[in-house]
Amino acid sequence: MSDLRKVSEDFDDEILEELEDLEDLEEEGVDLADDIPDIDPLLFKSAFSPFINSIFPVLFIDNKLRILAANKSCENLFTGFFNLAGNYFIDVFGRSFEMDDIRAIRDTLVNGKNGYSWKGIARIKSRTMVTVQTRVYLFPADMNSKNPTVFVVMFDDVTEENKNLLRSVFMSLLEASKLKDNDTGKHIVRVNYYSRRLSEELYRRSAYDRIDMDFIDNIGFLASMHDVGKIGTPDDILNKEGPLSDWEWTVMQEHTKNGAFILSTYPNPMAKEIALSHHEKWNGSGYPFQLEGEMIPLSARIVSIADVYDALRMARSYKPALSHVVTVEKMRTGKGTEFDPALLNVFLAISDDFGEIYEMNKDS
Ligand SMILES: [Fe+2]
Ligand SMILES: [Fe+2]
Repeated sequence: MSDLRKVSEDFDDEILEELEDLEDLEEEGVDLADDIPDIDPLLFKSAFSPFINSIFPVLFIDNKLRILAANKSCENLFTGFFNLAGNYFIDVFGRSFEMDDIRAIRDTLVNGKNGYSWKGIARIKSRTMVTVQTRVYLFPADMNSKNPTVFVVMFDDVTEENKNLLRSVFMSLLEASKLKDNDTGKHIVRVNYYSRRLSEELYRRSAYDRIDMDFIDNIGFLASMHDVGKIGTPDDILNKEGPLSDWEWTVMQEHTKNGAFILSTYPNPMAKEIALSHHEKWNGSGYPFQLEGEMIPLSARIVSIADVYDALRMARSYKPALSHVVTVEKMRTGKGTEFDPALLNVFLAISDDFGEIYEMNKDS
């Protein structure tokens, strides 16, 4: 808690009492800037009080874009991202807005364009947290003031809403592809879990800069989409018992390109990468493009380990199910040929977790 008395030494007793009112705000959990210049504390308190317990995250900023106070919801939303009160709005959120939006915000506050109000979208990203997407509303704290100096910034967190909407559209595609594919529903769920687990371990080891919380969250959903392109593979090839002829095999391999085509509208390129490259091999002997080594996207290299592990564990019409131990040994022989050796080492270190995921999500 900041010592508001300290900054108020020059104030007379009456003002001091008013500042104590602001201390009450802090006691209620409000994050308050150390000094709030040029603003009547009582007015400030009466403007801010209604928002203290609001479920909407709310900031108060002045027309110099300094954050004066943040309510508890706001603190909760941005915990792990930013320190709020006392800092400048643009320093904190500058990278979360488009350049045009930043200009519009400045114009709104300084020149009163659009009646001193503005609304837009912010994408708040950090390495240790999943990106937060919010609608942002900016308006004067005192709606009756002709020259407002204090503004309310209200955030509406739409991260889950947007994510769920997007994912439900692609889930229905996946459901449609499952009607054709003989892989079980549990297979794709397990591939999600393994891919997520392996990525978490890589993050814990700080192995790749690209792996952050968004990467982990995305691969934990998008891994399941690896075979969505099989929706375009003819049934007689997809379900054929016994080996495929050369031309059938060529048609079968097309599921990678079809998947990339289907997922090209997905906003994150990881979806397309996984569909297109999950059958590429480290030594360049995979398909569809015989990519080699790190030319194969990291997400696809991870999913290929997850997919092969699960495929080996499962019984298919043409092969029996292998035990965890036999599967791991078989995969070890693919180090540096089929699989990225660095990723395979990490897989070997946490392979017991793969076994556990399989056991806990077995086909019934
Ligand atoms: Fe595949
Ligand atoms: Fe698969």
